[in-house]
Amino acid sequence: MKVLAINSSARIGGESKTEFILDFLVKGMKEEGAEVEVVNIFKKKINYCIGCFTCWSKTPGECVHKDDMTKDLFPRYMASDLCILATPLFHYTVNANMKTFIERTLPFVLPFFEFREGVTTHPLRQVPPPVVAVSVAGFPEYSVFEQLSSYMHYLYGKHLRAEIYIPGAENLVQKTRTPLVKKVLDAVIQGGRELIRNKKISAGTMELINTPTSDFKTMATLGNAFWQTCIDEGVTPKEFYKRNMVPRPNSLESFLTLMKEGFNPEKADGFKGCCQFVFSGKHEGTCYYEIKNNEIHCGMGSASRPDITITTPFEVWMDILTKKADGAEMFMAQKYTVEGDLDLLIKSGEFFGK
Ligand SMILES: Cc1cc2nc3c(=O)[nH]c(=O)nc-3n(C[C@H](O)[C@H](O)[C@H](O)COP(=O)(O)O)c2cc1C
Repeated sequence: MKVLAINSSARIGGESKTEFILDFLVKGMKEEGAEVEVVNIFKKKINYCIGCFTCWSKTPGECVHKDDMTKDLFPRYMASDLCILATPLFHYTVNANMKTFIERTLPFVLPFFEFREGVTTHPLRQVPPPVVAVSVAGFPEYSVFEQLSSYMHYLYGKHLRAEIYIPGAENLVQKTRTPLVKKVLDAVIQGGRELIRNKKISAGTMELINTPTSDFKTMATLGNAFWQTCIDEGVTPKEFYKRNMVPRPNSLESFLTLMKEGFNPEKADGFKGCCQFVFSGKHEGTCYYEIKNNEIHCGMGSASRPDITITTPFEVWMDILTKKADGAEMFMAQKYTVEGDLDLLIKSGEFFGK
C-alpha cells in the first residue's frame, strides 16, 4: 500500500509536534509493510488557488499553476492508496499551508452539480485517496478540534478513515517518558498498523489515543513560566530549547510543579530521600519533595522527616535552577545553607530532566 503523508507544519526538523505525532503513525504503517512517503509541504512551492476555474474548463483536470503541486504533489496524491493530512491546529482549523494544499486538489472534481445524499455536490473526475486527519494543538481540551473535525467530515465524508487529534501537544512532547504519554504514543503506532491492516482504527485503540495527558493547571503553570522566561530572556521557543534553558518558577507552587513534571523516574531508580526547602524573600514559605519507589511526591509546608533542608532566598534557588548561578559557588558564598544529607543535593541534578 502506498501512503502519502502531507505534513503542513513549518517547524519541521525537531520542533514540530505535528511531525512528532506523525512519526509514530508512520512507524506503525511501515511495520505493517506500507510504503510511506512524508512530504513537508512548507518546503514546497504551492501557489494559492486563484479561482480561475481553468482546471474545470479550458484544461480539464489540470491546474493553471506550474509549481510543485501541479508537477509533483497532485499526481502523487491521486496515485496514493491513502493520504495522511497532518496539520498543526491554527485558529481552530487547518493551517494555511494545508488549506492551500487542499484547495489545490480542486481538479479532481468536475464542475457540474449533483444532489447526493441530501446535499449539493460535484461529481468526481478522478477518485481521490481516502484520508487520515492528524492534528496537534496547544490547548489541552479535545473540544479545540471540533471545527477541524467537522470540516474534515464535511470535506471527505466516508473517505475519512480516521482522525488523530492530540491536544496539549507542546506539553506532551516534554513528557514522553511518562507511562501515560507512552501509552498514547504506542496507541498511535498501533493505529498506523491497524489502518494498513484493517483500513480503520479500532474503537479500543482510538480510546487509548484519546487518553488525556495534560490537565489545565499543570499545563498553564508550566506554560506561563515558560513564556515569561522567553519574554524576560528575549528568546524564541526554538532558542529556549536550543540553549537548554529552564522555565523560571515565580511561586512555590510553580516550583513544585516544575520539579514534579521534570522528574525522571528512570534516573532515580532505587533512590529514596526527602528534600525540604525553606524559602525567604519575595516568595516566602516552605515546601518539599520526596522521592521513593521511582516516584516523586511534592507538598507545601514541612515534611515529617526530611533528609536534607535547604534554607535559601527563593530567587537565589531559582537562579541555580535556571543555571544563571552555580550551586557550588553560591554555597561557598553562603547565599544558602544546607543541613543533612548532602549526597541528595549532589545527586538531585540527575533526577530532573528537561
Ligand atoms: C498562528 C497560530 C495559531 C494557533 N491556534 C491554536 C488554536 O486555535 N488552538 C490551539 O489549541 N492551539 C493553537 N496554536 C498552537 C499550535 O497548535 C501548537 O503550537 C502546535 O504544536 C503547532 O504544531 P507544530 O508544533 O507542528 O508546529 C496556534 C499556534 C499558532 C502559531
